[in-house]
Amino acid sequence: MFAVSPKTNCPHIEKSNLLDLKEFKKIPFEELKCKKCDEKDELWICLICGESFCSRYKNKHFVEHNEENPEHCICLGVLDLSVWCYECINEKNSEDKSNEKGSYITSNITNQYIKIIENLKFGEEKKIEEKKNEEINDSEKKEKDENFIIKLDNKNEICSHVKEENIINKFNNSHDTYFKSIIKRQLSNENKSPNFFGGICLICEEKIHYYDDLDKHYNVQKHKLYFNLLDSTLVCMECKSQYYFDIIDDIKYRILFQYLSEINLNLPKNTKLLTKEEIYDEKYKKIINNFKNKKFSKILFMVGAGLSTSAGIPDFRSNTGLFKQLQDKYNLSSPEEFFFLPTFLKNPMYFYEFTKLFDLSKVEATISHKFMNFFVKKNIVKYVFTQNIDGLEKKAKIPDEKLIYAHGNFYNGHCPKCHKSIDINKINEGIQKGEICYCPKCNGPCKPNVVFYGENLPLRFFQKIQECHDIDLVIIMGTSLKVQPFANIPEVTNPNAFKIVFNMEKVGNYEYDILEDDSIFIKGKTDQNVIKFLKDIDLYDEFSEFIKEEYNEDLNKLIGKEKELINVNKNQENEDNKVEKLTEEIKNLDLNKNK
Ligand code: OAD
Ligand code: ZN
Repeated sequence: MFAVSPKTNCPHIEKSNLLDLKEFKKIPFEELKCKKCDEKDELWICLICGESFCSRYKNKHFVEHNEENPEHCICLGVLDLSVWCYECINEKNSEDKSNEKGSYITSNITNQYIKIIENLKFGEEKKIEEKKNEEINDSEKKEKDENFIIKLDNKNEICSHVKEENIINKFNNSHDTYFKSIIKRQLSNENKSPNFFGGICLICEEKIHYYDDLDKHYNVQKHKLYFNLLDSTLVCMECKSQYYFDIIDDIKYRILFQYLSEINLNLPKNTKLLTKEEIYDEKYKKIINNFKNKKFSKILFMVGAGLSTSAGIPDFRSNTGLFKQLQDKYNLSSPEEFFFLPTFLKNPMYFYEFTKLFDLSKVEATISHKFMNFFVKKNIVKYVFTQNIDGLEKKAKIPDEKLIYAHGNFYNGHCPKCHKSIDINKINEGIQKGEICYCPKCNGPCKPNVVFYGENLPLRFFQKIQECHDIDLVIIMGTSLKVQPFANIPEVTNPNAFKIVFNMEKVGNYEYDILEDDSIFIKGKTDQNVIKFLKDIDLYDEFSEFIKEEYNEDLNKLIGKEKELINVNKNQENEDNKVEKLTEEIKNLDLNKNK
């Protein structure tokens, strides 16, 4: 897939004289075109000089630019926001530099450039959305205020300054608890005990070391509101009032106070600390209750290979995963190399033979696939973003308009050299016969529309992401979240949405950890955990009926099948055998015969 596991230690970034961020912001992104040929699609911005050039799949003008100016080696792809270094070379194929030059990289430095474009790409829509949200009717607003969790000491009213500064909304709407993030930030700037300082100005976020200085800051800056770090209260200097948190019922504040206690801060009066397990339970309960109360109406699913392992298809990165098998077998320098476009162009038969091993016609959709369709048919799913190309979403009857194949699919074909569409039946025929299907226009080897590293993601992926600023829940299942830009979907859509991660292992750039608000990690096999989840949200019976009506199947039997696989060793072996057998077959592929 495009841009999987970017290199994180590119040595050239630090050495390069990168364009100033302020200058970068001035680039007229709306009107970009290749400096040499006016091409408008598939552009690369040189992060040294800020000029744009077309990609190697158009007229190769960035490659040319880099050859003319070797120090101009870092570039950013406008369409998929990936960064490449042309000094980093894939050693394995150094004899074929024209194809192999350039490595996908990531670093904190280049992320700043990406952020700027992301804001431009997605910012406008966000603004419109925010405006809409502001217009929510007054009654709803009132309700929000009443649920507010800060209470004035003794009295039940909040001073106008707290209201003016919108502290309430910052509290209630922030993804990372507002104070928590301020505190974290302050602490990371300076490694001193937080007891050392008096408070944090909530207007300018400045750290104020001593109590006496709070007065000074207020007199000079006229900033009225502080978070008092010593007793964790909110202070309004103007009204001389202090607010305690009523934390009885809000999980966010329990999390905050858990954190405060971990960094040895004094806690507000009457604070009852929870253990991490208790916090987890609280968070789970909160999500369950939101489900029961129909709070989620725009769910976004993000899924990967782990969703289909129970159907007998190996994933990529697990121990028995495909990448390891392919890397060992083909002696590749990186596991992804098998799916590099240059590898395919050089030796298309690798992929043809590999594809032939997978007879997807007999593979069935899993419980988890049907779980997604269940919510789709309830009309509470915005989109299902899948990285998979096994077609099981379609078999689970998820309608096309809800499905986004981030990494393409096997339903259509094309020529990767000249981009001509090719009849998939011809390619499939070739795969079955072991004969490469060549492009009638340029004679390049043709392939199904699955996205390889070095190819762009389908345009629909980017279009649909832009429609997702209003999602309220992201359900992530069976993916290592190692592939960009897919992994970034929550960040570029609505970072404030709840997140549920069903996976065997902890994944993601975000730590779905205990201190994180509004996200929860449910460890284990998805098929089993979605069943438990459905029971918890009181939808198990309805799901069971749905399985009967939609697929004419008996849910108990489906679960039984799964259980057998887990409980009876023999059957477990069968499942493993399937993967092992496939491994064997892959090993036995004779690569040299087609050279
Ligand atoms: P990965 O193999 O990277 O990740 C699969 C994840 O699913 C891992 O975290 C597993 O622990 C987890 N997993 C496996 N079985 C599971 C189960 N029964 N229940 C829960 N979790 C399970 O696969 P992807 O994240 O999909 O592109 O990989 C992304 C892309 O990388 C793919 O689209 C692929 C590859 O480049 C192609 O090259 C075609
Ligand atoms: Zn062609």
